[in-house]
Amino acid sequence: MSSKTISGFSKKSKSEKIDWLVAQYLGNAPEAKDLLTTYWHPDHDRQQKHDEFIENTLSNFYMPYAVAPNFMINGAVLALPMVIEESSVVAAASYAAKFWMQRGGFSAAVISTTKSGQIHLIYSGAAKDLMAYFERIRPALIDSIEPLSKSMKARGGGLKDLMFESRTKDLDHYYLIEATFDTKDAMGANFINSCLEQMAATFTAGTQGAAEFLEAQVVPEVVMSILSNYVPECLVRAQVSCPVTALAQEGLTGQEFAEKFVQAIRIAETEPRRAVTHNKGIMNGVDALVLATGNDFRAVEAGVHAYAAHRGHYQSLSHASIQDGQFTFWLELPLALGTVGGLTKLHPLVQVSMALLGHPDAPQLMRIVAVAGLAQNFAAIRSLVTTGIQKGHMKMHLLNLLNQAEATDSEKESATAHFKDHEISNRTVVDYIDSLRK
Ligand code: MEV
Repeated sequence: MSSKTISGFSKKSKSEKIDWLVAQYLGNAPEAKDLLTTYWHPDHDRQQKHDEFIENTLSNFYMPYAVAPNFMINGAVLALPMVIEESSVVAAASYAAKFWMQRGGFSAAVISTTKSGQIHLIYSGAAKDLMAYFERIRPALIDSIEPLSKSMKARGGGLKDLMFESRTKDLDHYYLIEATFDTKDAMGANFINSCLEQMAATFTAGTQGAAEFLEAQVVPEVVMSILSNYVPECLVRAQVSCPVTALAQEGLTGQEFAEKFVQAIRIAETEPRRAVTHNKGIMNGVDALVLATGNDFRAVEAGVHAYAAHRGHYQSLSHASIQDGQFTFWLELPLALGTVGGLTKLHPLVQVSMALLGHPDAPQLMRIVAVAGLAQNFAAIRSLVTTGIQKGHMKMHLLNLLNQAEATDSEKESATAHFKDHEISNRTVVDYIDSLRK
């Protein structure tokens, strides 16, 4: 067996894990161990909490935690916490926040908050027998999750509906039970999955000796039970609007800017190659907030991109119009977010984020996150149709390039002044630093 293989790794202490990895994979370099341990939090209890989020934790992986102030949302002003590594995202969000603050701010509204999960079944008998069984067992399925649902019900949530669906047109013998839920302020993944697994167990237990299956001598089989991250019924809309004349900028009249902006949106509605990048820009804002509030960005990403294709082809999640001299720009996003449960109580910085946002409930957080996506998208399209994206992006990236070139503080100061009116690229920055050192 290769020395790079190990069993019982998860049982080792953190130091033992690091020692083993450094020996087997990192050429026994002491710097590697130092680096990993340098990133441990000095407060042991705090570090332990982080260690226990996942298995095999070695260290912490820092990401910048920033804030974008001046977001006026439905009349209230907020500073949005953002966790992201891309240099220009927070600056772009802050720009858009200020721009729209001066034009009435953002409005946002939750359209719906329903989530769903499915029990996936295979049955080779007659569909009518399975359907009859489902109708008979349905009340027992609902009763069986009563103990699991008590506290969710007390908060006004729980199972909303349970429906049977045949999918045999697409896959032989395939049926499903669709369960819809309201999980209130929880993202609800654990609650939904526990309910589905309990109902699946009740469903399976009931098939033994069930009259509906006696004749065919075949019973349905549960393949799996799991929530869906496709949440088109958990939807929020964010919008900005102002007179076209208030949009004049970068040598363009308001009308010229608005028309170019709307054209850019039409392109993203039409052409998937553009739509993916366009939506990535929206997710720059969405993910940064989703991470800062301890939510599951993979779930959000999966659901959002699936929704972007719900009309039959992948397209822009945002839209824009000019009507009677008024420019309107909006998006609709499916967002399953939680403000209780998950990491919300465990990660100290998530608690700071929640406090910054005024301890929102889940619908409030949905509105805020959708606004962050819209703001980010506005800033990106604005740059794309005026100066181009690189000017602002490279300006924000300058410090990273200077750090890569190991510039000193005084070199950074000269470079910052110099690059105010010179083109920024990896090459020009390296050449400039070299010229200072000659
Ligand atoms: C970069 O992170 C995001 C953009 O590419 C988005 C867009 O093109 O709309 C600037």
